[in-house]
Amino acid sequence: MRSADPRVVLGLHRSRHERRLLTGALELGVTALDTSTNYLGFRSHQILAQTAGDLLPKFTLSTKVGYFPGQNGGEHSLDPVRLHAAVEQAADDLGREPDLVFLHNPEHSLRAAAPHGRDMLAQACAVLADSATKGLCAAWGIASWDPSPLLDLIGPTAPKPSVLMVRAGLLAGAGTLDAADALVQAWDLGDRAVWGMSPFGGSTDAPMWARIDPRVFLRDDSRLSRVQAVFRTAYHLPRVDSVAVGTDDPAHLGELVDALAGEVEERTVHEYRRLLRDRSRSQPA
Ligand SMILES: NC(=O)c1ccc[n+]([C@@H]2O[C@H](COP(=O)([O-])OP(=O)(O)OC[C@H]3O[C@@H](n4cnc5c(N)ncnc54)[C@H](OP(=O)(O)O)[C@@H]3O)[C@@H](O)[C@H]2O)c1
Repeated sequence: MRSADPRVVLGLHRSRHERRLLTGALELGVTALDTSTNYLGFRSHQILAQTAGDLLPKFTLSTKVGYFPGQNGGEHSLDPVRLHAAVEQAADDLGREPDLVFLHNPEHSLRAAAPHGRDMLAQACAVLADSATKGLCAAWGIASWDPSPLLDLIGPTAPKPSVLMVRAGLLAGAGTLDAADALVQAWDLGDRAVWGMSPFGGSTDAPMWARIDPRVFLRDDSRLSRVQAVFRTAYHLPRVDSVAVGTDDPAHLGELVDALAGEVEERTVHEYRRLLRDRSRSQPA
């Protein structure tokens, strides 16, 4: 049994929710689980409680609200009544209050709400802040795949999230990286408050991973595999404290934990971001 390391968050987006994965995670010191109301066909919370209810107190548990059953699989909404009900339902279904509840990709609803996006975001944040005050969750945050639209909508009066989770890694584009940095600064987020997600863009089998050698981002490129190098580099693109990563294989999770020993070459990350910015500027809007 390794000691707990909060830098790796086991994300359950694509997971089969098998008990052996959770026991394997605990042995590896991975004690943070990230799920969402909509994962596993909107049954993630119930299945976790059924298959591993006794294990859940050993984890720090985050979930997300703001994506609801609807046409074509689901729909985003920041309706305060629906959000509040979803937080209550999450605690009921899990059999415990989550440690952290994220607003799930609020940018989807905010784009459609212009010019009222600022009020809508402030109201949604207030619902989650209120939920934390009432003890329905310990803290709240915002999880955003594309944080760029949020930048113009956060104001001094809206409650500030405790955690921001954004797309991270080599596949996150210049706009996402720059917006993430700007939000971290605007909210003055401190230690353990910035999480990355989806370091492989959902799959390590995608053809692009065979075409590059991500070990160029490491100081000592000989010790880690390519997959490990992609994962380790994600902590620097943008700079995040923890990364939510998906796997159904405890051995794979072990490789990711081992990857934390690698050191990333900041200069290479800097250069990569410069190249991304140049490329995005040269592309038509
Ligand atoms: N907007 C949002 O809120 C949002 C969006 C996306 C993701 N997320 C969070 O981020 C988490 C991770 O994102 P994701 O599932 O999209 O993608 P991901 O972590 O980028 O990729 C997951 C894939 O990587 C493979 N993998 C992991 N470690 C491996 C290893 N050592 N060797 C080989 N393959 C490996 C897994 O396959 P195996 O099962 O075979 O290991 C899995 O199919 C989600 O579960 C969720 O918590 C949040």
